Amino acid sequence: MLVKKKQRTYQRATIYFSSGTGNSYRVAKWFYETCLAKNIISELIPVNIAQPTKEISASAKQLVALAFPTHGLLPPWSVIKFLFRMPRKKKTHFFCIPTRGSLYIGPLLLPGAAGLASFLPSLILLFKGFRTKGAVGFDMPVNMTFIHPTLTPKHASRVVARAKRKSERYFELFFRKNSLWLTRNNLYELIWSIPLLYFIPLFPILYLIIGKFFMGKILFANNNCTGCGTCAKSCPVGAVIMKSVKNRKTKRPYWRYNCEACLRCFNFCSQRAVVAGHSWGALLWYIGVLVAFGGGLFTLITGVLPWLQSFRNWWTIELFNAVFYYPAFITAYFLYFQLMRIKLLNSFFTYTSLVRFFGQYHEPDTSLKNLTERAAPVNN
Ligand SMILES: Cc1cc2nc3c(=O)[nH]c(=O)nc-3n(C[C@H](O)[C@H](O)[C@H](O)COP(=O)(O)O)c2cc1C
Ligand code: SF4
Ligand code: SF4
Repeated sequence: MLVKKKQRTYQRATIYFSSGTGNSYRVAKWFYETCLAKNIISELIPVNIAQPTKEISASAKQLVALAFPTHGLLPPWSVIKFLFRMPRKKKTHFFCIPTRGSLYIGPLLLPGAAGLASFLPSLILLFKGFRTKGAVGFDMPVNMTFIHPTLTPKHASRVVARAKRKSERYFELFFRKNSLWLTRNNLYELIWSIPLLYFIPLFPILYLIIGKFFMGKILFANNNCTGCGTCAKSCPVGAVIMKSVKNRKTKRPYWRYNCEACLRCFNFCSQRAVVAGHSWGALLWYIGVLVAFGGGLFTLITGVLPWLQSFRNWWTIELFNAVFYYPAFITAYFLYFQLMRIKLLNSFFTYTSLVRFFGQYHEPDTSLKNLTERAAPVNN
């Protein structure tokens, strides 16, 4: 006789999200609404204000879900830190919901790739005693709008509508099957990840480093900035601070190294004043390339001090690079911030940035308030 598997009923769902431009918030919200429709007491909480030790219990009736953007085939660094900060919970169920960036080339829709982002959170929580119940990635409009043009509103809403339909199917399946691992979606992620990691094994790690130390450091505020401070208040990792500037009435934003390039500040600034300095970025990149690959600086210095040649090997070059690399970046950005105070130079870097061709993007129905506040526990 065929025995039908009993559908699991949860009493409580704690849904965490990390979201730069609202895509992951939107998918988390769909999951939240599905839980409410199933009479599960549900909460929707931004990762940066979460207190997981208070919010989740060790029970098979407790479900924890986490939605976040993919950054370089990994969850953003703040999400990885959040996962490590999760308490040990035996029996608690976990469901992972990465979003990825999808775009149109002509009429063709190209899906994104979440890769390790689909599996790493479950692996970390497995070691913490959680029962990991599945993962499903969603293609949402790609939001790297400091390096590419935004999707047209028509294309963006098509991508969101497609993801919504998929969410209805997959979330129902999750509750019906009590688990969601063996899916076409996860097979696709494995197919992507394995060859990529085989050929470029350090890609995600390099990305974490470049993303953290490079990308955020090419952002600056152009002359349109009113000093309103919204970017600083709403940054999920507190990476923007407002600094007083001599001879100016208003403060100006300064981007610190913990910026994760989530692009919230960039895409939500009402003055379109956040700019990626591509010309400056090229210069910084040049410093990085010169130093990190090939020991260019070492070569230059041994030209002046030839006796140093006898110490030349892979280790000394790498050590030399590390000692030079980070201070060079820090000094470079300090200099950048100072230069931006000069109106003419500010206009030059604004003009030589490609972002004026790109536009801003955030998930159409998502506001900054949605991204920064929790939805109190609700039971339908
Ligand atoms: C810095 C950065 C890196 C990204 N890397 C990837 C990636 O590796 N794969 C992918 O599919 N999408 C990538 N994306 C796109 C986002 O993951 C995607 O648009 C996501 O839905 C954004 O969600 P959010 O609005 O909640 O931040 C990246 C976006 C940014 C800003
Ligand atoms: S960059 Fe934009 S959000 Fe930030 S202070 Fe200036 S105007 Fe306000
Ligand atoms: S500074 Fe801007 S891009 Fe960087 S983490 Fe904060 S909001 Fe995101």
